[in-house]
Amino acid sequence: MARLASRRGTGSLYGPAMSATPEVKTHAGVAMPAIVYGTAWKEARTAALVEQALAAGFRGVDTACQPKHYDEAGVGRGLAAAIARGVPREALYVQTKFTPIRGQDPKRVPYDPAAPLPEQVEQSVARSLSNLGVECLDGLLLHSPLPTMAATLAAWRAFEAAHGDGKVRQLGVSNCYHPEVLEALWEAARVKPAVLQNRFYADTGWDVALRAFCAERGVVYQSFWTLTANGAALESAPVRAAARAHGKTAEQVFYRALTQRGIVPLIGTTSEAHMREDLAIFGFTLGEAELAGVMGLVGG
Ligand SMILES: NC(=O)c1ccc[n+]([C@@H]2O[C@H](COP(=O)([O-])OP(=O)(O)OC[C@H]3O[C@@H](n4cnc5c(N)ncnc54)[C@H](OP(=O)(O)O)[C@@H]3O)[C@@H](O)[C@H]2O)c1
Repeated sequence: MARLASRRGTGSLYGPAMSATPEVKTHAGVAMPAIVYGTAWKEARTAALVEQALAAGFRGVDTACQPKHYDEAGVGRGLAAAIARGVPREALYVQTKFTPIRGQDPKRVPYDPAAPLPEQVEQSVARSLSNLGVECLDGLLLHSPLPTMAATLAAWRAFEAAHGDGKVRQLGVSNCYHPEVLEALWEAARVKPAVLQNRFYADTGWDVALRAFCAERGVVYQSFWTLTANGAALESAPVRAAARAHGKTAEQVFYRALTQRGIVPLIGTTSEAHMREDLAIFGFTLGEAELAGVMGLVGG
């Protein structure tokens, strides 16, 4: 089981919101904040938004070495600005991804597309470290499994090498919707996946079986499309009733429910008001019946 823990001594420098943000810990012993700021599609605003999110109290960022959707160097500038303003590097959880070639814009591949896969991973990790201005990544995710298990494992061995070299603290996988694929990776891996980052939506039954697999092994499940794919849940009677009872928005109730079940939502808001509202979810707790009502909408 991923464990909830309180944040350690990082509350004094940047306002009270962050000190109330709990963390979850993976089987790898790496702690991450219970909500993480997502940096996709922010383009030229990336650095300023990351800085703003960190000033508001976020302490985790998710990005990718994939110029098509992410400005990873902009994320690095946002991190540097926060560190310059007094946020200790150790208080930050910095997570990025290696994106296989089919997920890249052919005109902007951040590694040699002709290189063998393990070298692509090595080059991508080097680029991420440089873009982000850190000596070690807290999390490195495979953006999606490759077309064959052999190719996925070839990439994973390169991930393990980066971990062995001290460049990455923990490894994970994203867009992995088939339990048998995660299970095969888990079995074959020498460094086991510690994070699963998936689209959280009805088409996959909200990954109930995968989430159970993760919970049993201390793999943290991170959700994206959390709000955009779950409009019906946000409009539902259980969410509305809990929102009324706690004086919160439907979005806050939904995020709070997920975090109470150990799911880490990626939050890609560009609004400072939403950043603050989302960080404030740790100021209230849903009762068991409320939680069961909300989670019942998304597979339990
Ligand atoms: N691994 C992958 O393949 C993958 C794919 C997609 C995304 N991601 C990650 O997930 C992150 C989040 O993306 P997403 O698509 O999942 O975003 P999302 O959370 O589904 O959508 C955020 C949208 O909800 C709105 N919103 C309304 N109320 C909000 C509130 N209280 N808090 C936050 N947002 C609120 C936002 O508008 P405002 O801006 O006006 O608040 C924004 O338009 C990305 O940045 C990226 O890091 C990963």
